[in-house]
Amino acid sequence: MSDDQLPPSSPHPASGRTAARTAAVIPAAGRGVRLGPGVPKALRTLGGTPMLIHAVRAMADSRAVSLVVVVAPPDGAAEVKSLLDAHALPDRTDFLVVPGGGTRQESVRLGLDALPPGYDIVLVHDAARPLVPVDTVDAVIGAVRDGAPAVVPALPLADTVKQVEPAAGPGEPESVVATPDRSLLRAVQTPQGFDRATLERAHRTVKDNVTDDASMVEQLGRAVVTVPGHEEAFKVTRPLDLILAEAVLARRRLNDGF
Ligand code: CTP
Ligand code: MG
Repeated sequence: MSDDQLPPSSPHPASGRTAARTAAVIPAAGRGVRLGPGVPKALRTLGGTPMLIHAVRAMADSRAVSLVVVVAPPDGAAEVKSLLDAHALPDRTDFLVVPGGGTRQESVRLGLDALPPGYDIVLVHDAARPLVPVDTVDAVIGAVRDGAPAVVPALPLADTVKQVEPAAGPGEPESVVATPDRSLLRAVQTPQGFDRATLERAHRTVKDNVTDDASMVEQLGRAVVTVPGHEEAFKVTRPLDLILAEAVLARRRLNDGF
C-alpha cells in the first residue's frame, strides 16, 4: 500500500510504519571563493574530517534517509568516492557520487538525474552546512511526509535588512530604498525537503538562477512551508565561519565526553 492510500487513522510515518523512502542530494561542487584560496570548500577539514563527510553523516544519521547522492566538484568525483570509502558511515545508507556543474542549481539537477526510482521524498542539503543536527533533518522529512510539497528550515533574523539601489560605480554609496519588516523575514537553511515530483518539475521548468531550491517551487506556485531551523545549521561561507564550526565541534566533543 502506498503512503497516499493509507487511511487517515494510520500512525504517523515517524512512528514506524513503512513510509515513503527518502534520499538526500548534497551539492558539494562549489569552489568556496568567499572562503579564500585552497581546495574546494567541501573538501576542507573541520576537526580533521572533510566538511563533506560531516554533511554526509548529518544526513545519514537520520534513520529515514536511505540514499545519499553527493554532487562532487566536476573533476573530483574519484576523490570524493575514496573519501566516502575511507570514513565510517552507517551501513543502512547507500551512497552515490556524481560530478557537479557550474552553478549550484545545475549541480542539484545533476544529483536529481542520478536518483533511482523508489525515492518519493528528496532532501537537498548544502555540503557547506556540515553541522546541521539530526532533529532538524527529521523535522523537515516529517513535514514533507505530512503533505507539504516543499519544506525549509528557517530562523528569524538578528540584523535589520535594508533594500538598496545598486551603487553607480565601485566605491560609490548605495541608496537605501526600503526596510522590510524584520518580523516577517526568515533566514532559510538546508536541508530543504521536497515531494520528489514537485522538485523535479521545478528543476525542469525554472530557468532563472536561484540560490535555493524552494524558490523554484515557489515559482511553480506550489506551497512552501517552514519548520524551525537551527543555529548550528549555519553555512560555512567566510573564514570566520570555519572558526565557529571548529568551536561547535569542540563543544560537541566536550559534551559527548560527559
Ligand atoms: N555548489 C555546487 N555547485 C556549484 C556551486 C555551489 O554544488 N557550482 C554547492 C556548494 O558546494 C555548497 C552549496 O552549493 O555546498 C552552497 O553554495 P555556497 O555556500 O555558495 O558554496 P560555494 O559556491 O562553493 O562558495 P562561494 O559562493 O563562496 O564560491
Ligand atoms: Mg556559491
